[in-house]
Amino acid sequence: MNTASFPAAWRVLAVAAMLVTSSVVQGSEHAPSTAKPWSPVTLQTALKDLPKGNVAAGLKVHTTMMCASCHGAAGNASTMNWPSVAGQRFDYTAKMLLDYRSGLRDEDERAGLMTSIARMMSPQQIADVSAYYASLPKPVAPQAQAALAAPLSAAEHKRVEQLVRKGDANRLITACASCHGLHGEGKGTTPAIAGQTTDYFIRTMRLYHNGERHNDVYKGMSQFSQRLSDADTLLIARYYASLGQNRTAKAD
Ligand code: HEC
Ligand code: HEC
Repeated sequence: MNTASFPAAWRVLAVAAMLVTSSVVQGSEHAPSTAKPWSPVTLQTALKDLPKGNVAAGLKVHTTMMCASCHGAAGNASTMNWPSVAGQRFDYTAKMLLDYRSGLRDEDERAGLMTSIARMMSPQQIADVSAYYASLPKPVAPQAQAALAAPLSAAEHKRVEQLVRKGDANRLITACASCHGLHGEGKGTTPAIAGQTTDYFIRTMRLYHNGERHNDVYKGMSQFSQRLSDADTLLIARYYASLGQNRTAKAD
């Protein structure tokens, strides 16, 4: 650990400790964000203006800035509740860190934690860690609650695959695969969702649904999430979790 990153790591730990010990956090009562929303053009310009990322330097950021303590040694979160970052698209990771930094992604106390962390990061560190995550294989969803981790039955698999690959014209739901890829691999600022932790997946869909997560430039996610039933969302989360690496593979 070099001396420059030590104070930063120390502050992250202090913030995390605050989150654990305090039940009253800015969360649900926080003031609406005053951060300026992106347009497709300003977003592309901001991403182009980032320096080139370096994978080895990104690994260093991941360990010295304590990202590993929550997102896992190789980007596989150890709890269902926190997102995995392994195999994520460079542009999506970078956008999220910029969004946390500006306060555009400000849905709850967890986002608040990430805002404190992202504000300590330089553009170079953002680029490096984004390159590092993009270099990792897709994540393995951790096996926690039995109900969420249970394999899909053949009937469930058929139903959910129809929904994610074809959408549902009656409910105006566009096929998830048309943007997130046939295998949940994502593209550009559209995130990879294969192998994502189920609790996080469900929570973030709910936050889009409620309008609390509002950093989606195209506002598609808030619309799609509102058209899905809770049962659909649960099934879709389990489906994408199952598209991660084989669970028997070594996670880290
Ligand atoms: C104390 C735990 C903790 C630490 C340390 C931490 N994170 Fe996070 N991170 C979270 C949580 C919780 C979320 C989900 C927040 C939300 O719901 O908005 C998150 C979200 C993210 C996301 C968005 C993921 C997605 O799929 O949208 C990225 C990218 C990210 N973190 C990167 C980092 C990086 C890089 C570092 C280190 C510089 C870091 N995190 C340190 C807990 C942590
Ligand atoms: C029109 C393109 C499009 C379609 C169709 C689409 N998405 Fe998305 N999705 C996106 C984009 C872009 C984002 C990133 C938004 C942002 O910047 O926060 C996203 C974000 C997400 C996230 C958040 C991932 C994370 O790591 O936080 C989830 C989960 C998700 N989508 C699931 C779905 C599901 C399930 C469907 C199908 C019902 C779907 N999406 C359909 C474009 C799309």
